[in-house]
Parts: sequence; structure tokens; C-alpha cells
Amino acid sequence: MAINTEVIDAGKYFEYAVDSAAHVIGGGGIAALPTETVYGLAASGLDERAVSKVFEAKGRPSDNPLIVHISDLNMLREVVSDIPEKALALMRAFWPGPLSIILPKLPCIPTVVTGGLDTVAVRMPSHPVMRAVIARAGVPIAAPSANISGKPSPTSAAHVQHDLSGRIPLIIDGGACGVGVESTVMDMTGQKPVILRPGAVTAHMVSQVTGDVKIYAGTLSGTPPSPGMKYRHYAPKASVYFFEGNKNEVAQNIVSLYYLCNENALVLCPDECLPLYAGINALGMGITRGQAEAALFSRLRAADDECYGSIYFHYAEYMGEAVKNRILRGAEIPGRE
Ligand code: TXA
Ligand code: MG
Repeated sequence: MAINTEVIDAGKYFEYAVDSAAHVIGGGGIAALPTETVYGLAASGLDERAVSKVFEAKGRPSDNPLIVHISDLNMLREVVSDIPEKALALMRAFWPGPLSIILPKLPCIPTVVTGGLDTVAVRMPSHPVMRAVIARAGVPIAAPSANISGKPSPTSAAHVQHDLSGRIPLIIDGGACGVGVESTVMDMTGQKPVILRPGAVTAHMVSQVTGDVKIYAGTLSGTPPSPGMKYRHYAPKASVYFFEGNKNEVAQNIVSLYYLCNENALVLCPDECLPLYAGINALGMGITRGQAEAALFSRLRAADDECYGSIYFHYAEYMGEAVKNRILRGAEIPGRE
């Protein structure tokens, strides 16, 4: 049965928004909240029943663990049992911000949060609304991205409404997310730091703090270290095709496909390549990594709103690993389920 979804504008009513969200979460409910990366669907990280509602509202597989968000370092000690030196160094360098760190969990974090694992991913977000709600609720907050499972993550309150209206009681509108891709996820439970999901905190930035870093390369079979990796993600309704290489050759390929298939397609490309796509539907992804990250999910969602059948993604290195990872995981790749 559909429920009534209230939307509160935190830009206009900050205190009311924070109080309302903290009240809902404190009472065992769920609410969508803005963070600097993407919107999160939040519940008390200590409340098993509340966390189950998050899985249900998103249609998320129960073995895919959630990230637990904290507002200060005291709260961290209520979540994890051990903080290795290198993990602490990463927290000092990148918190509050778009970095999630996997550490051994304390028993008070229910296993429903961690998909049955004995580790937990923790993040201190920088968004003022999220920080204030965690502090006011006084509990660590478990929150996955606030989209229907498998869809592109939401970077605006309108995206959340599109997916979850009628399924959750409250959305706090904090405007567009500044970062636009989900946090970098790092496993710090082993000998060497491992990046499981690339994000705005890059491997290079991490390595300057920790020295050697392993990057999980991804696999299409076997047991991935992060349960989320086995699921197809970030997929709009349109089929996404990924292209990279010499920019003129890539553009030639895409343009001939575009006409050959006579399809209703959208090209997403580096701004500097827009002239190569004169006369066809093409949108630029900016000129910096930050711009490409911030544009990605809203471009994919806008393509669905416009009912495009295909998206040809012309990738360039400046867009970075996070964008590449999200496009490849939502793209049509032969042999994958
Ligand atoms: O920026 C973000 O990370 C956003 C905002 C809301 O904070 N959250 C987010 O959550 O993207 P979600 O649930 O969509 O992605 C969490 C990822 C999943 O791929 C999950 O499998 C992985 O982190 N993960 C969480 N806990 C883990 C653990 N203990 N071990 C391995 N992977 C874990
Ligand atoms: Mg997600």
C-alpha cells in the first residue's frame, strides 16, 4: 500500500528538516537524506527492524551490506572493534568526506546491516544536513543510496521522489549532491589497504597517506570481496555502451553506430568532443573529473526521462576511475547476467 511521502526543503527549513528526520529515525522509521555524495535512505544502524525496512523499500538483496554513517569519532568507537593506524590516518586525511572504511564490527551492529559479515563499512559524511541528523538522532545511521536497487544513485531529491515516493514517509531536500558518485569504499581489515569501489577519493590520494594500495580489479565470476559487486548496478532503462580510445576514432564509431541503428540514442562525451557530434543528440560531461562525477547520474536519469533507447558513453581519462566503474557496471557487456 502506498504511503504519503513528505518532502521538506532543508534550504528553507533546516531545523525543522533535521528535527523531523531525527524524530522519524529515532522512532524506528526510515527517511531519505542528502549527503555530499548521493542521497541515502537512512535508518538507525542499531535497529534491526528499521534497517529491514530500508532493504524492503529499495528492493535490495539482503546479503548486500549497508554503510554506517557517524557524526564524530566517539561514535566510531560504538561501531568498530579495532582502528588500525593506517585507517586512522585515512580518517584524518579524508573525513568528513566521501570515503567509507571497512573495519571489524562490534556486536551491537546487527548482522542485517552488514549482510551477515563481521565487518562494517563506516563513513563520516560532510553534508551539514546528514551530519546534523546523525548528531541529533544520537545513533549511527545505516544508509545505502536512496534508489530502487540496481538503478542509478539519486543526486537530487527529485530522483529520490521518482524512485521511492509512496514507499517511504520522508525525504529531506538538500539540493543537488556536490560530489555526485558514491563514496570510495576501502577494506582496511587486511595487511594491505584495498579499494573495493572507486570514488572521489582516488587511489592516488589514498596512496599518499597509506603508501601501497591494492585496487580490486573486479571479476565477473567467483566470490567478490564486496557483496555489492556481484549485482548489476547503476543501470538506466536505456542500454549503455562504453567507448574509449583515440577521440576521433571513438567519435567516428559512435556516429556510424548512431546512424546505422537509426536509434533513439544519446551520446555522453567530453565537452571538448561535442563538435565531433554536431547534428546528433550529445551532451557534455564537463572538463574536470569532479564535473564528470557530478553530472553522471543525473545525465543517466535524464536520458530515461527522455526515453532514449541507447546511451553511447564516450569516456576520456580525465573523467576518472569512479565514472568508468559506474558506466561499466551499468553497461551492456556480453556474457554477464
Ligand atoms: O556515498 C555513499 O557511499 C552512499 C551515501 C549514502 O553514503 N552510500 C552508498 O551505499 O553508496 P550503497 O549501499 O549503495 O553502497 C555500499 C557499498 C556496496 O557495494 C556494499 O556491498 C559495500 O559498500 N559494503 C558495505 N559494507 C561492506 C562490508 N562490510 N564489506 C564489503 N563491502 C561492503
Ligand atoms: Mg547503491
